[in-house]
Amino acid sequence: MEKKIVAGIIGLEFGRAHLEGALAYGAEIGLICDCDEKALKFAGEKYDIPEEKWTLDYHDIINNKEINAVSIGIPDQLHKQVAIEMLEAGKHVLCEKPLALTKEDVAEIVQAAKKSGCVFMVGQICRFTPSFVKTKELIESGALGELYFVESEYAHDYMNIVSNKQNWRSDDARHGVIGGGCHAVDLLRWLAGDPEEVFAYGTHKLLPTVSYDDSTIAIMKFPNDIAGKVYVSTGCKRDYTMRTVIYGTKGTVICDNTSPTMQVFTIGEDGLAHDPEIIELEVNNHNFVKEFEVFADSIVNGTPCPTPAEEGAKTVAACIAIVESATTGKIVKPDYSFCE
Ligand SMILES: NC(=O)c1ccc[n+]([C@@H]2O[C@H](COP(=O)([O-])OP(=O)(O)OC[C@H]3O[C@@H](n4cnc5c(N)ncnc54)[C@H](O)[C@@H]3O)[C@@H](O)[C@H]2O)c1
Repeated sequence: MEKKIVAGIIGLEFGRAHLEGALAYGAEIGLICDCDEKALKFAGEKYDIPEEKWTLDYHDIINNKEINAVSIGIPDQLHKQVAIEMLEAGKHVLCEKPLALTKEDVAEIVQAAKKSGCVFMVGQICRFTPSFVKTKELIESGALGELYFVESEYAHDYMNIVSNKQNWRSDDARHGVIGGGCHAVDLLRWLAGDPEEVFAYGTHKLLPTVSYDDSTIAIMKFPNDIAGKVYVSTGCKRDYTMRTVIYGTKGTVICDNTSPTMQVFTIGEDGLAHDPEIIELEVNNHNFVKEFEVFADSIVNGTPCPTPAEEGAKTVAACIAIVESATTGKIVKPDYSFCE
């Protein structure tokens, strides 16, 4: 068990959320890294990190014996290489979602994480989003009764990003369902279990510069007779949201990840649900501070990591099944065989 966290943060665009999490936790910052000088300078100055702790080369993190916890916030296609190098160097890893984009890469990371004995956490951030955490508590308390239908969506317009053909999100392998849609899929897996069958239908009207569908609807069969639906749009003309509705025999939750409140309907003595309870949320978005705290707690206190490589792997497996179904027009049973 480690006594304290000395963090190395790789990737300083979105990865700054991990840096903020590490600082809020009180971790010592060993090194921050970005191969882009501007991104490195911006983050270094913004968070007042001394210049001797800036590096353009992530190998400096491998060679720094003090650093024991590494966050990986770089393009999805690079997760495998960097994650495995860090694990081989004995570093604990917090890796951004999706774990990787292909079965082969996912399987290699899972095996490397197992072999290393290090904590490996996939940043499935929805498991720390206050509205979704509250929903999980309501399910587990029995307040909603038995679940029978769960739905979530990932709607996020990538048009400005992928109009640059050089951007890594334009890559054929970075299908919107795996890249961003994995948030909604992971959320439903967490709330309802591993999908057993999926059927999906995709369309492509919004993002002419990419090869993959920009709108996908998937119907899913979950264990315990629960039906589910995931909708993914990466070209939608609206603001970003993950609207989510969870239906149980005794109540219903309506929430998302960007509103300050959520609605909870539960039945009264007449068996009907009248006015919803409106619950105010402390953080009305993803909670990266909590995510880092849980990662650090696994390293320092040995508390079980909630999203080890195997969990991130199963989410990718379910996403791959959705893409396969939308491509073939057939019902697909997700293949989880490479996830353990
Ligand atoms: N959890 C979430 O809600 C969420 C949101 C956005 C992005 N992400 C994930 O975070 C990761 C990064 O996404 P982003 O939006 O920051 O991408 P981005 O392209 O905006 O930024 C990536 C950064 O990584 C740097 N980088 C690339 N290769 C590097 C290398 N070899 N060494 C050091 N730095 C390198 C780039 O210079 C850039 O600054 C992706 O895996 C993405 O899927 C997660």
